[in-house]
Amino acid sequence: MRAMTRATPQTAPFGSILTDDMAIAWYRNGRWGRAEVRAVGPIEIHPAAHALHYGSECFEGFKAYRWADGSVHVFRMDRHIERLRQSARSLVLPEPDAAEVAAMVAAVVDRGRAAVPAAPGALYLRPLLFGTMANIGAASTPTDEACLIVLASPVWDYFAGGAKPLRIYVEEQATRSASRFGIVKTGGNYAAALGPTVAARRAHDVDQVLFCPGGDVQETGAANFLLIRPRHILTRSLDATFLHGVTRDSLLRMAADWGWRIEERIFSVDEMLAWVRDGEAALSGTAAVLSGVGTLIREGGEEIRVGNGVVGPETEKLRSALVAIQQGTSPDRYGWLQRV
Ligand code: COI
Repeated sequence: MRAMTRATPQTAPFGSILTDDMAIAWYRNGRWGRAEVRAVGPIEIHPAAHALHYGSECFEGFKAYRWADGSVHVFRMDRHIERLRQSARSLVLPEPDAAEVAAMVAAVVDRGRAAVPAAPGALYLRPLLFGTMANIGAASTPTDEACLIVLASPVWDYFAGGAKPLRIYVEEQATRSASRFGIVKTGGNYAAALGPTVAARRAHDVDQVLFCPGGDVQETGAANFLLIRPRHILTRSLDATFLHGVTRDSLLRMAADWGWRIEERIFSVDEMLAWVRDGEAALSGTAAVLSGVGTLIREGGEEIRVGNGVVGPETEKLRSALVAIQQGTSPDRYGWLQRV
């Protein structure tokens, strides 16, 4: 394994260790070439590459799980690949073939099979697509060359501190990203969230920023946001302003099947503050899984406790039910897992 850190795997920050091999394919002369599996290492791109100047880049994040019998299963790969293709279309990048991306993922998992951690770890899979056309004038012209890479990283908890309840800063003015681009999983959206996140972390020691432009509760820099009560979830209705999380979708589907009330609609910061007096709040995402929020911090530093400040029982129930499917200890009735 290639460590970009000196920490041991279990204590290494999320994503800081990679398996030895990656898959790589190039798009040139109007077609995708054959993918190659090779050692992870630097690649050569032109300094005028489109992605470096005009941000033509998108990526995905999903996980492979090692079950108790040693077999390895990827969670909702098709859905993630479909989202990558959707992001590519939005960025006018060459769209890779879904079956080709799946084969690249399978090859990388296969080469790194020994490094797939057992529960509670997983192998985080990171397909990455970016424009490589060398032309610094091409601000309004799509790239005609591109590169697709699949990396893999053995991971454990995303948030340092494990199951510790999160501290979340409520940003009531700024958007996370350009409004119609929230739905696109592009690096620029994470770059846009970084400044506010670093500032809030410095000022208030928070884990994430919840973007609520004009009081409209949307999502955090790296995860979706859910309000939870017994047999009831409230989360923002899907539109182009934020990322359509696959974990969010999975949790809502499971809870709906249990007969829970699922409310997907626009809601305000005021409504959220009323909810958390005795309700729960959590972040959902491939990396975050479902991480309970303990405290909300408003501009000026006012701290609002969520419920009694610990990870709530309903959050715990949802998280364990999802993890049980992923780790093969409860049946995969939705056909979400694919053995690789
Ligand atoms: C994911 O949950 O897969 C993400 O893309 C979040 C990333 C910031 C690690």
